[in-house]
Amino acid sequence: MNIEIDKITMENIVKEGWIWKKGEHLRNWRLRYYILLENGQFLGYKKNPNDHFVKSPLNCFNVKKCEILEMNGNKQFIFVLKCFQQNSQVERIFSLSNENDRKEWIHALQRISQNKLITFEQQSNKVTLQNFEYIQVLGRGTFGKVMLCREKSSQQLFAIKLVKKEIIRSKQQLNRTLTENRILKRINHPFLISLKYSFQTPNHLCFVMDYINGGELFFHLRRFTKFTEEKARFYTAEIVSALSYLHDLSIIYRDVKSENILLDKDGHIKLVDFGLCREKLHCGHKSKSFCGTPEYMAPEVIRRIGYGREVDWWSTGVFLYEMLCGVLPFFHNNYNNLFSLILLQHPKIPKYISAEAKDLLKGLLRKNPQHRLGFGSTGTQNIKNHPFFNPINWFDLDKKKVVPPFVPQIDNEEDTKYFDLVVACESTSFTPPLHSPLGKEDDEMLFGRFSFKDKRE
Ligand SMILES: Nc1ncnc2c1ncn2[C@@H]1O[C@H](COP(=O)(O)OP(=O)(O)O)[C@@H](O)[C@H]1O
Ligand SMILES: [Mg+2]
Repeated sequence: MNIEIDKITMENIVKEGWIWKKGEHLRNWRLRYYILLENGQFLGYKKNPNDHFVKSPLNCFNVKKCEILEMNGNKQFIFVLKCFQQNSQVERIFSLSNENDRKEWIHALQRISQNKLITFEQQSNKVTLQNFEYIQVLGRGTFGKVMLCREKSSQQLFAIKLVKKEIIRSKQQLNRTLTENRILKRINHPFLISLKYSFQTPNHLCFVMDYINGGELFFHLRRFTKFTEEKARFYTAEIVSALSYLHDLSIIYRDVKSENILLDKDGHIKLVDFGLCREKLHCGHKSKSFCGTPEYMAPEVIRRIGYGREVDWWSTGVFLYEMLCGVLPFFHNNYNNLFSLILLQHPKIPKYISAEAKDLLKGLLRKNPQHRLGFGSTGTQNIKNHPFFNPINWFDLDKKKVVPPFVPQIDNEEDTKYFDLVVACESTSFTPPLHSPLGKEDDEMLFGRFSFKDKRE
């Protein structure tokens, strides 16, 4: 095959695994190992090329702008791809052994097939605020609010995050929202929130996401004060999995904290809030911006000496400490004093904490990022191999096969009992801007290509 195949790296693999493919001439099913790359190449191998030194694939499809059709035949869980092979359009039939696997593949293929930015004008049925009924406020953040809403056409519930343009302008936080939009469009992971649409109005930028009804881990932790080691292990493992996925995409998250971690209806975590993420930070590269939530900030952020992905492992350590001990490892009402504690103090680890948990906490909370557990190219693996995580099967974890220690009791789909009552009582109205809305030109220049529509069903 004389097609140029992109170098396969951790960064550009979107998804890989075994799929049954129907032969074009002999119409029998063959099991092939497929690798989907960020550039749209969908490569099929006889053997897993990671384990064998196979270089050229048997198939090389291009799935940018492909059409995907889901169907059920005598072999269940089929999908048909209308895609390109070299310059000609072909139709190929694939099959998975279960619905979940098929969903995940279709999801990944759809994301790549529509990777091209969809501008507002190109959307055939434009999404507006009028498409939704607003039910209740779920959360209030720095730049606006998140509300529970129902899409009128589908009657489906969503969470909508509304960010006021005037606020992000005056706080010079434009980048934060644009980064969040870019990342939400890009990610696809069981423990990260997924975006349905993003669109803008003259006054707001809007993100429509799946509604995650189990509430913030902050809410649950406040109720129980602390968690058992088993419970903390489960949540930490899912966080490690989500963060390592982001790191593999050269994204650092920078805002691990209990308010940004939600529980879904089955008790698995969903990380939300990608505004503080830093993109294109490859392993070994450094960022200098001073950001994060003070209590969770790593010493190297405070020192402003440049930092990398290890800051996420530090804040994971802070959060694990909080779950196990019921208090933050570093706390002071005055930020300068808090920062001194983070730089100098070694947190006390109570006697009831097991030796494994204690060792993990010490490893994650090492002040020097180069000595911290999680440092370097094998860092994530070192965390996953830590004895505290011995009971965790990481492969099953990513497939959501590890049974959550707590399942939220959801009475009906609109149930919001796990959200803060004080916030919930706020009005769902949209307050008009204090200043007059922007001129059209200005608006297009700043927020021009914001819109996105997820084509998943
Ligand atoms: N998809 C969602 N489902 C349910 N609640 C959500 C969702 N997204 C956000 N929230 C709630 O809204 C709060 C604020 O959202 P977040 O994205 O963290 O905004 P901010 O950037 O302002 O912190 C979250 O802490 C959470 O309580
Ligand atoms: Mg937040």
